[in-house]
Amino acid sequence: MSPRKDRNVLVGIAFNAYDPVTGTKVPDPSDESVEKTAREILPAVTELGHTAFIIALRKSFMGFIQRLKNLNANVVVNLCEAFLGLPQLEANVAAAFELFDIPYTGNDSRTLALCLNKWKTKAVLKSAGLPTAPGVLVETAEAKVDLPFPLIVKPNTEDASLGIHPESVVRDEASLRARIQRILDHFEEPVLVESFIEGREFNVAVMDVEQPEALPVSEIDFSDLPEGQPAICGYEAKWHTDGVLYAATKPVCPAKIEDELKTKLQEAAVKAFLACECRDYARVDFRVDKKNRIHVLEVNPNPDISLDAGYVRALKAAGIEYKVFWQKLIDKAMNRRKGK
Ligand SMILES: Nc1ncnc2c1ncn2[C@@H]1O[C@H](COP(=O)(O)OP(=O)(O)O)[C@@H](O)[C@H]1O
Ligand SMILES: [Mg+2]
Repeated sequence: MSPRKDRNVLVGIAFNAYDPVTGTKVPDPSDESVEKTAREILPAVTELGHTAFIIALRKSFMGFIQRLKNLNANVVVNLCEAFLGLPQLEANVAAAFELFDIPYTGNDSRTLALCLNKWKTKAVLKSAGLPTAPGVLVETAEAKVDLPFPLIVKPNTEDASLGIHPESVVRDEASLRARIQRILDHFEEPVLVESFIEGREFNVAVMDVEQPEALPVSEIDFSDLPEGQPAICGYEAKWHTDGVLYAATKPVCPAKIEDELKTKLQEAAVKAFLACECRDYARVDFRVDKKNRIHVLEVNPNPDISLDAGYVRALKAAGIEYKVFWQKLIDKAMNRRKGK
């Protein structure tokens, strides 16, 4: 497949710069990785023959929109995951592109808002016949939790494993209550308590150019985890790149799995993509229990799309070049505009 070079498009690559209102929070790696992604997409898009510029979303939203308008971008590659340091405002950024009639790549505001809310997403997935881990949403540390241990305690509306640590997996009542309280204090949002699915973890990248298709399945290899560590991709495993938990949660793509399980995961990923009305690209996370039953953990409509992240590993495994992927998404975003 060779990319089209028949016209020059002005592409704005938008990302959220770390810039919280209060200034009290110190930046962590998850806040900074999206800028790296923007810097990787820039040469890919330039190589396609387009003119591209990176544009940072900081405190002034009007300033950001004004810069895009002044530069006259034909299309925006939207990497924004938050505004003012808040992932809860991720969808609002996409919504503004919609209102200002700026074509952009990636998922729309409704899907971004839905998928950030894990509890609501579970309801949508369940209504589409997809299995998710049994769970309950709680707002106090004393709330009834009628589920057997082990359990996992997560903030309901965060991403990038924020609030997910080895202590999130709880095996007794006292640890459960303490953990819920901790998440309530720290995030000030409802807490999702789920059955902890012991077993294998898979991710499936879905690409939607003509129609949604599942890319090769990726598995997290937990076999090097130190004794006693729960097998999860928590905050340390994702972001502490020098740490033991990062090294012991290696992604393997394509996963070494039987065809039947592979097909089951890929079909469920496409079904989840459609149920959440995703478009362009998304990554679906799964756990498979000891009885080989699959559970959708969540749908990521704005996954890490940097060169060393899972989505791009899956693109490579499928033989799709990074720049070709971007060309297709840019074309698609511009056609959506034309189709209106
Ligand atoms: N119900 C569960 N059973 C087993 N592991 C889980 C469960 N929920 C989350 N995890 C672990 O925690 C990680 C992060 O949880 P996830 O729901 O995907 O949140 P995030 O949006 O932060 O990625 C998962 O990749 C998985 O390793
Ligand atoms: Mg996840």
